[in-house]
Amino acid sequence: MKGVILAGGTGSRLRPLTNLMNKHLLPVGKYPMIHYSVMKLKEAGVKEILLVTGKQSAGLYTEYLGSGSQWGVSITYAVQEQAGGIAEALGLAERFIGRDKKFVMLLGDNLFQDSLEPFLRDFESQSEGAMVLLKEVPDPERYGVPVLTDGRIVHIDEKPARPKSSYSVTGIYFYDAEVFHVLKTCRPSKRGELEITDVNNAYALKGRLAYRILSNWWVDAGTHESLYEAIRQVWKEEEG
Ligand code: DAU
Repeated sequence: MKGVILAGGTGSRLRPLTNLMNKHLLPVGKYPMIHYSVMKLKEAGVKEILLVTGKQSAGLYTEYLGSGSQWGVSITYAVQEQAGGIAEALGLAERFIGRDKKFVMLLGDNLFQDSLEPFLRDFESQSEGAMVLLKEVPDPERYGVPVLTDGRIVHIDEKPARPKSSYSVTGIYFYDAEVFHVLKTCRPSKRGELEITDVNNAYALKGRLAYRILSNWWVDAGTHESLYEAIRQVWKEEEG
């Protein structure tokens, strides 16, 4: 299976740090944030990776990751002209993924402990559709929140004021190639972005959105507080 990592966006919640460089290059322990997504894919056997960056700091990604050979993977780059949303960035992966292929996509600001391997295996054996990974969190209103009925995701609410479950939809997604058709039916949201939650809801509506739950720590390092938490978790693992 191929992998896609998204590392564009504006990183506005991490200003002024992100005035200097793109969020996914900020240090988390010994490495820049992007390193962890690449390693998670590699450890799960996903070695053909498309990295989508914005224009800001694009050269620094090639400086650090190069062709990927130094890290045991092969990296292809795509540049998203503007931060038009996660789903727009995903659209840039269509040619890389090719026809009828399943793939995994990571948001580069998500750091986590679980191995992706068992989830990849489950998704391989799933006949079609998509799969998301959930994590129980104390503050679901910050994330996409699944509405679960009879063990199924019937809908995902994006950053709801009143969350209907205590789970967040993490930035770890598995799709079949149908996703590129789904994307073309999506329209920009109120904030002017193509939302990944709309894409996932199209699958949920057809009853084709599976899910699994992460057992270990997971952090969306998109704010100063959560970046600090990610650094703390990574150091703890390093020491342990
Ligand atoms: O972290 C999980 C959450 O990520 C999900 O629960 C939400 O449903 C999902 O919408 C997303 O929410 P965020 O508010 O955290 O998204 P953010 O704008 O911070 O972007 C997340 C990642 O996607 C980040 O690594 C940068 C990348 N990105 C984002 C945008 C808007 C791009 O590559 N291009 C973009 O245009």
